[in-house]
Amino acid sequence: MTKISAFESSKRNLELCMMAPVIPVLIIEDLSTAKNLGEALVAGGLPVLEVTLRTDCALDVISEMAKIKGGIVGAGTLITCQDVKNAVNAGATFGVAPGATDKLIAACEEAGLPLLAGATSASEAMKLLERGYSVQKFFPAQAAGGAAFLKSLSSPLPQITFCPTGGVSLENAKDYLDSSNVKCVGGSWVAPKDAIKNRDWDQIQQLASDSVRVLS
Ligand code: 3PG
Repeated sequence: MTKISAFESSKRNLELCMMAPVIPVLIIEDLSTAKNLGEALVAGGLPVLEVTLRTDCALDVISEMAKIKGGIVGAGTLITCQDVKNAVNAGATFGVAPGATDKLIAACEEAGLPLLAGATSASEAMKLLERGYSVQKFFPAQAAGGAAFLKSLSSPLPQITFCPTGGVSLENAKDYLDSSNVKCVGGSWVAPKDAIKNRDWDQIQQLASDSVRVLS
């Protein structure tokens, strides 16, 4: 496994953030939905997929989605070093965490996994920046101050790019994307639970393409 530096990690995350305005945040309960769901999102114009490690089948979902042509699959909700190992073994090519710890950062660097680590305050963002992480997740975005908070950080900390997630929707995503320090947002609205349960892939593709149309 080739290690990855904070600089390289940030560079890769910036590339991912520039690929589409939304990174779908996926909580998948049923492995049999993975292929169709991933294909619908990619076909709708959202190639970067975050599969959260919150369900029993999440690692198998990552392996399944990793096969989708044109898709780039990462693991979300990374908390422990074991999560990082599992994610890499499953085929994840990037990782997302709600926050950041020294151990988690070291595990990702060691495993060669680009990490989008979370921050919710100027101090947390500055600590990550000090370590070389200039692309960060802002979570939980709406609850922690929303687009106005991030806009306020853009003046003193213009060198940090954020991907806000948590409470982001098609209605408020533009507010975030209007801020100079935001290149994409993350959200689950493009893959609603009911649509996945009903296997309504057309609806999911439509939600994805609407997001691309409205937010690009
Ligand atoms: C999460 O970690 O659950 C994400 O931030 C997604 O939040 P959302 O469901 O509010 O989009």
